[in-house]
Amino acid sequence: TSAIDRFDFFTIAFDILISIVGSIIVNRLIPILKEKFIKAQLWGHDLNKRNSKEVKIAESQGVLAAGIFLVLMFIMIAVVFSEHLHPASVFPHKKFVEYLAALLSICCMVLLGFADDVLDLRWSVKLLLPLIASLPLLLVYFANYHSTTIILPKPVRPYLGQQWNLGILYYVYMSMVAVFCTNAINILAGVNGLEVGQSIVIAISILIFNLVELQGVCWEEHLFSLYFMIPFVACTFPILIKNWCPAEIFVGDTLCYFAGMTFAVVGIIGHFSKTMLLFFIPQIINFLLSVPQLFHFIPCPRHRLPRLDPELNKLNPSEVEFKKSDLKLLGWLMLRFFSMTKFIRYREYTNNDGERFISTTNFTIINTVLCWFGPLHEETLSRILILIQIVLGSLLTFFIRYYLVKFFYDS
Ligand code: UD1
Ligand code: MG
Repeated sequence: TSAIDRFDFFTIAFDILISIVGSIIVNRLIPILKEKFIKAQLWGHDLNKRNSKEVKIAESQGVLAAGIFLVLMFIMIAVVFSEHLHPASVFPHKKFVEYLAALLSICCMVLLGFADDVLDLRWSVKLLLPLIASLPLLLVYFANYHSTTIILPKPVRPYLGQQWNLGILYYVYMSMVAVFCTNAINILAGVNGLEVGQSIVIAISILIFNLVELQGVCWEEHLFSLYFMIPFVACTFPILIKNWCPAEIFVGDTLCYFAGMTFAVVGIIGHFSKTMLLFFIPQIINFLLSVPQLFHFIPCPRHRLPRLDPELNKLNPSEVEFKKSDLKLLGWLMLRFFSMTKFIRYREYTNNDGERFISTTNFTIINTVLCWFGPLHEETLSRILILIQIVLGSLLTFFIRYYLVKFFYDS
């Protein structure tokens, strides 16, 4: 087939229909199951509220969105492939396996995310989880495509050639995409509505991108991605409403991993992982900014989320303090670099025993926004961060993808 046909329109319509039903079900499930989660000790304090110590808020509610999403996708398999169940038709086994591997990877990641919520895994372990969950996908990629060649941008071609075969490195790249997407969402967190808000902005951006590309040559891959994105947005939307400031529920690492893996999967199978990564520009900046703390050049507290000023009911950047003598050269250079580029603010002082100390704001763009704008109400901060996601993640990407790209690639 050369283009999208009537049957595809029917499946999209069906996808939208069951997504609406799914959305309603998630919305109903949240109030019903909230108390059960709290009883099972899956709860947390909302650290940036005046009454934070008194209220228990159900954690890991993202598992509801993920659960219903998976159910919807299982139904979708039957519909998408029903066309080929006719004995005279040739069954598209390759496509079928891709679909199943994508779901297996997502399913696996949801399970691991939930395990993380329950067991509070160490950071090094968290990094490995997406690597394991992406294996089914990589195997299918290996079996189906085998192509590990990348086309180089025009300006570098005279020096480096037209294309490069990355070989095994291409698989390393793809598993890194999975590791990055899942963790990047999880570390841009700590303000009500942010984890799920950024996920929905990215999902809608992918959705729009897919719709535009349905007219292109790779329409089949984009149709595949569309089948995933519609239920994703529908199922996570009720979570956003309830997680928005003041939060009634928390999404948990389950949602961050679920969202990240879903994006990685459609990006890889849909062959648009580069564009997909561009939608993650704010997360990439936040990750680079976090590197000093993630790799312990600078101490990293358990929570880096902003700190509440109870009198004003506004958030200030959170800080971490340590002895200056504990700082190694690299740590010092990183501190200076991010301070000069205005991403963080630090001060030095001497304590009563005459020891030199450093107090610096934590290395996240959430704290950076507070450094730039001054104390903000949590909801305002959340809005600004979502706006940054829309402008820097989505609009900029569309500009790069549909305008700037002309200078780097043919057509
Ligand atoms: C990541 C961040 C951590 C941040 C935390 C907040 C890194 C390396 N880790 O850790 O700095 O503090 O997310 O989610 O950057 N919470 C709120 N308000 C919110 C969201 C969360 O108070 O809007 C608190 C709640 O107590 C909740 C807890 O954060 O129970 C969840 O933290 P968790 O997702 O387990 O933290 P990590 O993902 O490990
Ligand atoms: Mg988290």
